[in-house]
Amino acid sequence: MYSEKVMDHFMNPRNVGEIENADGVGEVGNAKCGDIMKMYLKIENDIIVDAKFKTFGCGAAVATSSMSTELVVGKTVEEALKITNKAVAEALDGLPSAKMHCSNLAEEAIRAAIEDYKRKNGLLGECDCAAA
Ligand code: FES
Ligand code: FES
Repeated sequence: MYSEKVMDHFMNPRNVGEIENADGVGEVGNAKCGDIMKMYLKIENDIIVDAKFKTFGCGAAVATSSMSTELVVGKTVEEALKITNKAVAEALDGLPSAKMHCSNLAEEAIRAAIEDYKRKNGLLGECDCAAA
């Protein structure tokens, strides 16, 4: 049912934890199941140099969180914003269709953390974020 890569990232998740003084932090919840992911990004000169996560969720959520931290490191902020949940799932050699929604957490957490970074650095321009 699950690919070897999914099992590997679930059993040995990469980059678990927090970044102290992170430049961007995003926390998102999955409306379908209530699972939660928190993503921490360290950003220098527009490049994501470190990423860590904490996920309270299912195995697919842990595996996609883990893979997403590997995918964002080394990317520019704009490149990271283009990472889709499908790309994260593909990097794991796919997810069962019933678990595809779990990969939304990773995509949304990346976006939320980058939005937080932009807000803190006055890069948002016209307000269109959900900050309230
Ligand atoms: Fe909730 Fe997978 S069942 S993220
Ligand atoms: Fe985001 Fe105003 S700061 S809507």
